[in-house]
Amino acid sequence: MKENRRSFLRKATVASIGIASLGLANAANAEPQKDEKKVASARKSGDPICVGLIGAGSRSREHVSNVIALGGQITAFCDIQQLSIDRTNKLIADRGGKKANVYTGSPRAFEEMLAKETFDAVIIASPWEWHVPMSIAAMKAGVPYVGVEVSAANTLEECWDLVNISEQTGSQLMILENVCYRQDVMAVLNMVRTGLFGEIIHCRCGYEHDLRDVKFNDGKNYTYQEGGEILFGKEAFAEAQWRTQHSIYRNGDLYPTHGAGPVAEYLNINRGNRFLNLSAMATQSRGLHKFIIDKGGANHPYKDIVFNCGDIVTSMIKCANGQTVIVTHDTNSARPYSLGFRVQGTDGLWYNDGNTIYVEGQSKPHAWDKAKDWVDKYNHALWRDLSEKAKEAGHGGMDYMMMYDFFQTIKNNAPVPLDAYDAAAWSAISALSEASIAQGGSVVDFPDFTRGQWIKRRPIFAIDDKFPSVQKFY
Ligand SMILES: NC(=O)c1ccc[n+]([C@@H]2O[C@H](COP(=O)([O-])OP(=O)(O)OC[C@H]3O[C@@H](n4cnc5c(N)ncnc54)[C@H](O)[C@@H]3O)[C@@H](O)[C@H]2O)c1
Repeated sequence: MKENRRSFLRKATVASIGIASLGLANAANAEPQKDEKKVASARKSGDPICVGLIGAGSRSREHVSNVIALGGQITAFCDIQQLSIDRTNKLIADRGGKKANVYTGSPRAFEEMLAKETFDAVIIASPWEWHVPMSIAAMKAGVPYVGVEVSAANTLEECWDLVNISEQTGSQLMILENVCYRQDVMAVLNMVRTGLFGEIIHCRCGYEHDLRDVKFNDGKNYTYQEGGEILFGKEAFAEAQWRTQHSIYRNGDLYPTHGAGPVAEYLNINRGNRFLNLSAMATQSRGLHKFIIDKGGANHPYKDIVFNCGDIVTSMIKCANGQTVIVTHDTNSARPYSLGFRVQGTDGLWYNDGNTIYVEGQSKPHAWDKAKDWVDKYNHALWRDLSEKAKEAGHGGMDYMMMYDFFQTIKNNAPVPLDAYDAAAWSAISALSEASIAQGGSVVDFPDFTRGQWIKRRPIFAIDDKFPSVQKFY
């Protein structure tokens, strides 16, 4: 079975490269375009979708719930920590799933799992530095659909690896950017496509999330507990084991895709438009050091650690079709959560902080409307049809919507809507912002990961028949 699938994939490789470059419709949401070819998969229609997990931490468990809720099966998973394994086994049982095969014992145990098991899809929810090695291994093992958590890649070389291996193997790599599926974000996509805001000229977005109490904890709890120990690295728990070190060694936008993903869909990046170049600057680094001293005292063992990452990193991107985008990374400051979206066209704009919209000729002059009224009017098909089912899922339902779309893509053997080119272009903001900051804010070029195909590729993400697009492509 496995060999069949592998040889099928090999034969389909050339066709799949063609598929990726043609920008075919995501069969979940749109009419198939004329030359649509199927992605290779040995799955029989009606079989449950068999999913493997690499990394079974807190994010992965959110996926477990949605996979099972959508009728899929976790057939095997891999992790290196017993607590993660125990919690995932329990969750699968609690949700009524069958017992999964478990692979563990070494950081490379996922290779054994990929060699022994046959999956319809593998989901990778591991520390950032493992995303690309694991994605490559899954694609090379012949897994037809690979979902990788955000950000997908850390360096430009890794971004190219995702693109090249996806093209070579024919395996479909989807960046699991759940914010693309947020209700207001999807409604605004309908607004943009129907021309409500006129021609889009400028967007802002970012990841503005106070993670100080996630980057340090006591080794038992996910977040820092007032008066408790302040640890990161091996002795800490969950993300504090690995995420904090990135703030020591790197200075750039470490987590760009929650903002850049949705904005890329508004701007048709890789599908008629592309990110051209970027200039970034970083503030001084204060928040993490201050947190250690404020909570742990002036003599805390971490007092001399130098955190390299500026508290606020601002990247300005220029697009081929003229638009500018400002992306903000702000995870070490005292502040409430925001992704800071602003989507502005010649005739109006959405302003996420404040939840307001202004549309010339329809809003009162110089006055904001409540965004909710517009979001209700332009509500996306996924949310019109599935919001009841999504209610219990993580992050307000968007995780369910994302898994539903991923599953529909698999069932239809279709190209993924957020593909390896998207994973590369969005994640490249990290490496490019680091390079630009290191050069005093110099403008650095985005590689064209599509190798020119962006001119011909057309949008396939979240096409909603009720809101036909008026956008022009040449
Ligand atoms: N999209 C979202 O909203 C969202 C939310 C949270 C996290 N994430 C992303 O999900 C990923 C995982 O984050 P998390 O919060 O679950 O982190 P976590 O630390 O809770 O879990 C990571 C798991 O990976 C395991 N792991 C580490 N190295 C491994 C290896 N070599 N082989 C197998 N397992 C290994 C760890 O033991 C741990 O159980 C990260 O990329 C993060 O950025 C995304």
